[in-house]
Amino acid sequence: MKIFFRLCFVFVALSMLTIGLPSVAKAQIRVAPQLFLDPPYTGRYGLGTDADPDLIAKLDLDVMADGRGLPRGSGTVFGGEFVYREHCAQCHGDDLRGIEGVRGGPLFGGRGSLAGPAPLKTVESFWPFATTLIDYVRRAMPTENPGSLGPNDLYGVVAFILYRGGIIGADDVMNPSTMQAVEMPNRRGFSNGRGTVEAFNWR
Ligand code: HEC
Repeated sequence: MKIFFRLCFVFVALSMLTIGLPSVAKAQIRVAPQLFLDPPYTGRYGLGTDADPDLIAKLDLDVMADGRGLPRGSGTVFGGEFVYREHCAQCHGDDLRGIEGVRGGPLFGGRGSLAGPAPLKTVESFWPFATTLIDYVRRAMPTENPGSLGPNDLYGVVAFILYRGGIIGADDVMNPSTMQAVEMPNRRGFSNGRGTVEAFNWR
């Protein structure tokens, strides 16, 4: 009789292991999704600070291809050359042709080369809009101190690059309206895969 009770005990214990445990696991699986169905947390986490208009203005830098967002200001080729020598030449070279072994690269030249055997991608050969140069230089250049150039310096240095690329004249002044009027050499060089279109469709 004793042996019978012992066997019963072993049988019950084994059944708990084989049936009991999976049903516990199943119960957990049933419970878990309810955590996600609960209404989301609506309180405050107490992180960060409110963004004031000054901070937003510093971050709200984007200039669109059609000139929306261009900062107020103006610059000349003459003035831009000084900005270039001080802030850009160490990486892009005194003559804007880049420096061997330095990752700045050339900023002009290569016009018409992109579809050929030795494509040279520069502002002159590649960029479809001059307006986005302001955007790019303002947010990314010089790489060790991006965002450091004021609007007049930005217009000046961009004027200097465009002048060296033979895109504007030595006496041209760059400001929001002249900038929008610049016709870049590769303006019509972009394709949407169905033939050449007038740059890409940015609107
Ligand atoms: C410390 C080095 C450094 C300095 C200083 C620097 N650049 Fe650059 N620049 C780079 C690098 C590196 C790239 C390539 C970035 C990339 O490919 O993502 C670049 C890319 C560019 C491009 C894009 C070129 C292209 O054909 O697409 C422009 C335009 C440019 N720089 C302008 C400037 C101007 C203007 C200044 C000065 C205000 C400047 N850079 C200063 C390193 C520098």
